Amino acid sequence: MIAIATASQKGGVGKTTLCINLAYSLARRGWNVLLADTDPQGGVGLSLARSTRSKQGFYDYLCGGGDFDKLVLATRLPELQILPAGQYDACSRRGWPAHEVPARLADILRSAELRGVDCLIMDTAAGLNGMSESVVKACDYVIIPQQAEPLAVRSVPHMLETLSRYRSEGAPVKVAGILLTMVMAGNSISQKVVNELRAMLPASLMFEQNVPRLESFLEASAMGVPVALMKRNPPPEALIFDQIAAEIEQRTGLPEDREAAQSHASLLD
Ligand SMILES: Nc1ncnc2c1ncn2[C@@H]1O[C@H](COP(=O)(O)OP(=O)(O)O)[C@@H](O)[C@H]1O
Ligand SMILES: [Mg+2]
Repeated sequence: MIAIATASQKGGVGKTTLCINLAYSLARRGWNVLLADTDPQGGVGLSLARSTRSKQGFYDYLCGGGDFDKLVLATRLPELQILPAGQYDACSRRGWPAHEVPARLADILRSAELRGVDCLIMDTAAGLNGMSESVVKACDYVIIPQQAEPLAVRSVPHMLETLSRYRSEGAPVKVAGILLTMVMAGNSISQKVVNELRAMLPASLMFEQNVPRLESFLEASAMGVPVALMKRNPPPEALIFDQIAAEIEQRTGLPEDREAAQSHASLLD
């Protein structure tokens, strides 16, 4: 199994939109995907179904343990499952020992793997501190959605330094890539930032595909669906996330990971 977190210094850059649409695309491509929401504001649950707000999930398991499988929600797509954020307020009132968080996160990763998950996607709250820091440190890969705005030229190197510090402290996390989001076609400032970032950073660190700023993404999250499910016939922009999913497969070695897991299983049979 491969665990991927998102990370960004700022909110509103399209992390949750990425997680929902990427999880859907990967599931459509045949991977067993578990989308876990670690944002106390519960963006994933809120977008996909209002009722997930009242469900138990990530934070309940983190502070109380229990039966992991009972917290996982099925979706219409058998390959896509969701671990909602759960009851953050109730859990933080009870308090959880901060030093136990890494072990409990490792337990969540193990439980997901035992369920046959190929790809665990963990949506995070903005900022690389607190729970988001712990989540990123526990994952194999991190995707950095970066809004195409002038500030990005300074904030991206800062983010990369923080992540390389995590690695030097022993965390396994590698950068899967920087994904430019909210790119405005035909806007010269947006285009200039895209060009500057691509000139400044090694191509190996950048997703080839950008995410354009489009009304349909806004509409899709208001309707609580991946953009591909918005209409009977998926709009052309649904292909954007298929393209990103294909890049993720390459960048994380997802197919090789599954092969390795399968050959391991056959040795044990
Ligand atoms: N590519 C996009 N084009 C237009 N609106 C977008 C796009 N991505 C996200 N949005 C909208 O911007 C808001 C913030 O996006 P979200 O994915 O929740 O960001 P984050 O999780 O980083 O806070 C949401 O209302 C969402 O619908
Ligand atoms: Mg979010």
